[in-house]
Amino acid sequence: MASQLRVYVPDHPLIKHWLAVSRDVSTPTVLFKTAIAELGRWLTYEATRYWLPTFETTVQTPLAETAAVFINPEIPIALIPILRAGLALQEGAQTLLPLASTYHLGLVRNEETLEPSCYLNKLPEKFAPETRIIVLDPMLATGGSIMAALKMLTERGADPALMRVIAVVAAPPALQKISELYPSLNIYTAMIDEQVNENGYIVPGLGDAGDRAFGT
Ligand code: PRP
Ligand code: URA
Repeated sequence: MASQLRVYVPDHPLIKHWLAVSRDVSTPTVLFKTAIAELGRWLTYEATRYWLPTFETTVQTPLAETAAVFINPEIPIALIPILRAGLALQEGAQTLLPLASTYHLGLVRNEETLEPSCYLNKLPEKFAPETRIIVLDPMLATGGSIMAALKMLTERGADPALMRVIAVVAAPPALQKISELYPSLNIYTAMIDEQVNENGYIVPGLGDAGDRAFGT
């Protein structure tokens, strides 16, 4: 059976709360960044369920031997924050996955054409075959940036079926583009908003995520 893009919007009060904080125009920069980091933490928690490779063994407690499950340290986990705003999501994700490697990818949209360009690429030349990858990009709007990121990742051996994309807000144009090229992908987002306006901003969205996270 052909795979189909899965978009999860976890029904969790902490996710709803921090989304509301991030959307509020009166939220100051320091709290906005906290909100995005918290969303990074809770969306990563949801996205790693049934996904992190584990192995079964036994441990000796002070009283008896018992069955135990550990995260498999031999399978690499990679976090890919899309700069700038993805840095705040990565901060939260890393609290749950302290041993994950972080490969930064700097993409910026041209404000007129909305086309992304890459100004920083810290990706490895090749990912090991089983690598679990989490791409962190707060806004999936026209989809230009995430599609550019996914292209660069798959060119380096990343398997979309083993990837998770974490976003704060996703919009239909981005989801449509992803589903056409990467149907085996799983996306975890706090909300799907209906529209992208003529300037490429998600409505209602949360405004410019990078500017709000870094006070620019
Ligand atoms: C924002 C956002 C996404 C991108 C989404 O980044 O963080 O990466 O726009 O838009 P798209 O789906 O239409 O490509 P931006 O280019 O503004 O850079 P910044 O994070 O440095 O502000
Ligand atoms: N990038 C943002 O930061 N916000 C949007 O609404 C769309 C793209």
